Amino acid sequence: MDRRRFLCSQLGMLGTGMLLSKMGYAQSMHHMHNMTENTQVSALFTGQLPTGKVLPPLTLLTNTASAAKTFQAKLVAAPLTAELIPHKKTVFWSYNGQVPGPLIDVYEGDTVEIVFENQLSQPSTVHWHGLPVPSEEDGNPVDIVAPGEKRTYRFTLPEGSAGTYWYHPHPHHYTAEQAFRGLAGPFIVRAKNDPLRHLPESHLLFSDVKLDTNLHIPDNDMLDWMNGREGQFVLVNGQLRPKLTVNGPQRWRLWNACNAHYLQLTGVSMVLVGTDGGLLEKPQPVNSLLLSPGERAEVVVIPQIDQQQVVLTAKAYARGKMSMQQGDVPPEQDIPLVDVLLKGSKDAYVLPAFLRKIPALGTPQVTRQVIFTESVNMKKMGMKNGRPTGMQFMINGREFDHARIDFTGFVNDIEQWEIINATEMDHPFHIHGTQFQVINRQTEFDTVQEPFLAWRDMVNVKPGEIVRIRLQQTMVGDRMFHCHILEHEDLGMMGTLRVVKRD
Ligand code: C2O
Ligand code: CU
Ligand code: CU
Repeated sequence: MDRRRFLCSQLGMLGTGMLLSKMGYAQSMHHMHNMTENTQVSALFTGQLPTGKVLPPLTLLTNTASAAKTFQAKLVAAPLTAELIPHKKTVFWSYNGQVPGPLIDVYEGDTVEIVFENQLSQPSTVHWHGLPVPSEEDGNPVDIVAPGEKRTYRFTLPEGSAGTYWYHPHPHHYTAEQAFRGLAGPFIVRAKNDPLRHLPESHLLFSDVKLDTNLHIPDNDMLDWMNGREGQFVLVNGQLRPKLTVNGPQRWRLWNACNAHYLQLTGVSMVLVGTDGGLLEKPQPVNSLLLSPGERAEVVVIPQIDQQQVVLTAKAYARGKMSMQQGDVPPEQDIPLVDVLLKGSKDAYVLPAFLRKIPALGTPQVTRQVIFTESVNMKKMGMKNGRPTGMQFMINGREFDHARIDFTGFVNDIEQWEIINATEMDHPFHIHGTQFQVINRQTEFDTVQEPFLAWRDMVNVKPGEIVRIRLQQTMVGDRMFHCHILEHEDLGMMGTLRVVKRD
């Protein structure tokens, strides 16, 4: 059975004539070699930026509160002019003059108060990706802060929320651009009784930047919109290919803050100890680690051989990008990210065998389906006012409409969601306000149970795959769910779950 027939048989009971025709479009769209008009592929800088600096630590956002268990600070979004190479100016958009934005580092139980000031020429918001914050504090697409305005975001982080999160803008239609111009920052929530708190930490936040021949950050072209934008430079804490010395066992927190770049990390042996929403139950040795855009992980690196030089590399990952003519989408390549010097110690280090208990979410009260679809009208493809025409990225056959509620659910119900990718490209699924557990992943060949329990707010869904997850929303309010390729999200591959109290 081919992938389309498999999905259609899975979806057959739903009446999906719509889906069949969309998928027909998707098929023909993958090799549009004869499409030549309006491609606007930008000329890119082919030189090098400086490499080889020592990996800089993330800049800490200073807490100005005097009271205990309170974190207060200000974030200002504004343009930042930088010289990546001497006498060439690149304008980023930054939080507090930094790319990436400063690290917010707090404990479970803390109350966080961030004054956000928007000095951009566009509306913005700050979304607290992955954190269980009330929906009115979560920087939703229509809760905008206008240019020149301020607002305070305030929330208390519950016990059990320790993990590795981030923040980024989420204004309707502007998210992708604001993120690729530099607006994204890391957020760590710590537990007091963390079983790995004895390990030194390194933080590696990956972002990418696309530079044209003048070293300016160009607007999105049609291919950027279609495939999600990937810059030709992948930066780590804002640096190109820095170096890092690892002296004995170390805990790494990893963030993929790229709009669309998948990072298949290899080259350093790592033990996975945590996902988006914090620690696993048991450490899991991994050969490589795929971080989809928006995803985070915690790993422990244990040097085995003294003075071993290795390269943390993003291995080529084919995610089904579409092209309009031969050669306009370059083949995937391995990207060296960090030169790592491992310094072993004589005493073998043994990780704790147990990290924490993760209770499995039980039998669901409700089941939902989220179907990713894409459609293209070749006659209408082009660009208009900086946005593409003739292509659609949808959920359940519709583009995002903030006035439409796609699903209504109840506080504390256990929900099972089936995320179905009926397109020819990978799409990373994300939902706001909570963490979920992956139950299984089904393809036309088999259904694979998830090997271990983990809290996530990101899961990649491959073409033709069905991923089943369980989640529970603990607060009332509207929550977005979407593809975290931010161009797709901006084009409408997003929906709204309304959470209400059962009366
Ligand atoms: Cu990181 Cu709705 O997004
Ligand atoms: Cu989010
Ligand atoms: Cu997508």
